[in-house]
Amino acid sequence: MPASLTTRLTPTTHAADLSGGIATLAISLRRAFGVAFSFWQRESGELLHVSMQQPGSNDPLRGQLARAVVGTEPQFIADEDSVLLLSVPFTLGKDTPIIATAAFAIRPVAENEDAAGAARLLGCERARAIAWINRQTVWLPDSLQRLAATVQAQVAAEIKVGHLEVEIEKISDNLASTYEEICLLHSVTQNLRISSDEEQLCSFIVNWLLDCLPAQTAAIQLLPLAEEGEPTYRTRTQPLFIASRQCPIDNEQFTRLIETVQLEAGCAPYVANDNVTAGDDWPAPQIQQMIVVPMSEGEHLFGWLAVFNHSEEAEFGTVEASLLSSVGAMLGIHSGNRELYRQQSEFLASVVRALTSAIDAKDPYTCGHSDRVARVAVRLAQELGYDARMLHTLYMAGLLHDTGKIGIDDAVLRKPGKLTDAEFDHIKLHPELGYRILCDIQQLADVLPAVLHHHEQWDGCGYPFKLAGEQIPLIARIVAVADAFDAMSSDRPYRLGMPADKVDEVFRKGAGQQWDAKVVDAFFRAREDIRQIAQHERANLTLDVQQWL
Ligand SMILES: [Fe+2]
Repeated sequence: MPASLTTRLTPTTHAADLSGGIATLAISLRRAFGVAFSFWQRESGELLHVSMQQPGSNDPLRGQLARAVVGTEPQFIADEDSVLLLSVPFTLGKDTPIIATAAFAIRPVAENEDAAGAARLLGCERARAIAWINRQTVWLPDSLQRLAATVQAQVAAEIKVGHLEVEIEKISDNLASTYEEICLLHSVTQNLRISSDEEQLCSFIVNWLLDCLPAQTAAIQLLPLAEEGEPTYRTRTQPLFIASRQCPIDNEQFTRLIETVQLEAGCAPYVANDNVTAGDDWPAPQIQQMIVVPMSEGEHLFGWLAVFNHSEEAEFGTVEASLLSSVGAMLGIHSGNRELYRQQSEFLASVVRALTSAIDAKDPYTCGHSDRVARVAVRLAQELGYDARMLHTLYMAGLLHDTGKIGIDDAVLRKPGKLTDAEFDHIKLHPELGYRILCDIQQLADVLPAVLHHHEQWDGCGYPFKLAGEQIPLIARIVAVADAFDAMSSDRPYRLGMPADKVDEVFRKGAGQQWDAKVVDAFFRAREDIRQIAQHERANLTLDVQQWL
C-alpha cells in the first residue's frame, strides 16, 4: 500500500488551477513511490511538470509515449534493459486528462552490460545510466503496477471527495443565504401591524436588508397619499425618504432617478449595474449598482424600495432582485391595508362629525357640550390609567352620548323653564333612541353602552334600566361624571353655570350615590386640567386621539 496521501486533492476546473492540482498530485505520487514523476498533457504530449530528479524526464520522446497511452489503467509504456517507464493516467477537473510518468529499475545492472536501451530511455550516457539504475530501489513490475492502481484509485477518490466538499460548501452557502432571507421576510411580516409606526418599520427594514443583501445602503421612499391633509387622521402629503447609513442620494435625487428610468407601479425589479451606470446619461454618478422595486398593490403605488452599490463592487443579480421584490410586494400590500384602514377611519369620523353637528343643531343652548364631555371623559380615563384604545372609545362615546336627542321634540328640548313630568319622561327616552340610531354601525359597538346607560346612577335610581353599581358599564360611569360636570359648570342662556366650589360640593355628596366614587376621585385629582378643558372651545373637531393626547 502507498504511504498515506495526506495532501487533499481538490477538483480542478480552471486552467489556472491546473498547475496547483498537478503540484498536489506530484507530492502524493512522490510519497507513494519515493520518486518524482513528470506530467504530460495526454492529448498533445505537452510537458506540464518536469521531475528534476530523473534523467530524461523532459525528453519529448516520453511525451510522445504518453500520447500513445491506451485506456485508463496504469501501464508500462517502455521497457528497456532493466528500466521500465510507468505511466499513470489521471483526470484533473472535468476534462483535463494528464499522464504521470516515472522510470523504475527492476534489477541492478552490471558494469559490463550493454544497457544501451536503458541509456536511450533515460536520455543520458551509458555509464551514467548504469550508475543511476544501481542507485534506485529495485521493484517488481507487478508490485509497481498494483501500487500505481491503488494510488490512482485513491487520487480519484480524493478528487471526488474534493468535488463533494465544494458542492457541500455551495449548498451550505445557499442554505445560509436562504435562511437569512427567510429570517428577513419573517421579521418583516412580524412587524406588519396596521397600528405600528410606518416610518419606524421602514427604518428597520432598510437596516435588515443590509444584513441579507451585499449592498452598501438601502432606502425606502414613501409616496404621498393625499394632496392635502385629511381632516381627522394624519396622512402623508409629501414623499418621505428613509435610508440606511451613508446613503449616496437624498429624497429629491431619488425622485429624479425614478423619473429618469421611468418606473411605474407593478413594474419588474429594475437592476442597473456598471454597464448602465457608466453611461453618459446615467443621472446619479455616485451610484454604480442599484436595484429598485415598487411597493405597490395592483396599480396603486405606495413607494419604492432600493439598494445601492454592491458591497463587494460586484454586480447585482436575480437573487438580490428577487428578495427585494418579495419585500417590496409585502410592503405594498401592507401599505394598501393601512390606507384602507385610514380611509375607513376617516369615513367613520365623518359620520361621527355629522351626528355631533346634528346634536348641536338640535340643542343650540348646549352647543359644544358633546366635545367638552368627550374631552373631559378622556381626561378622566387617563387619570384612571386606561390605554389609548379606551381613550379613543371614550372620546367617541362623549361625542355621541346624546345622539338620541335628535329624536326629542324641540319644544321640550329647548324649554327654558322647569319640565313637567310628561316632558321629563319624554326626555328620558333619549338614551334608548340614541342606541337605536347607532346600533347598526358596527364600528361604534364599543360606544353603545355609554349612549344607553349614561343616565344610570350608582344607587340604581337612574334611567332607563335602573342599573346600580358595577352593573353600569364603566364607560357609561365615566361619561356620566363628564356629562354632569359640563351640565353644572356651563352657562345657559337662562342661567349661569355653577361656581367651581358648588360643583365640587355636588360631586362630593353624589360620590357613591349618583356617581361611581372612583370616577369622582379621578375628577378631583384632575380637576384643574378638566376646568381648563371646559374653558377652551375648539375650532376643529378632531377624532385622532394621537393628535391631542
Ligand atoms: Fe344625556
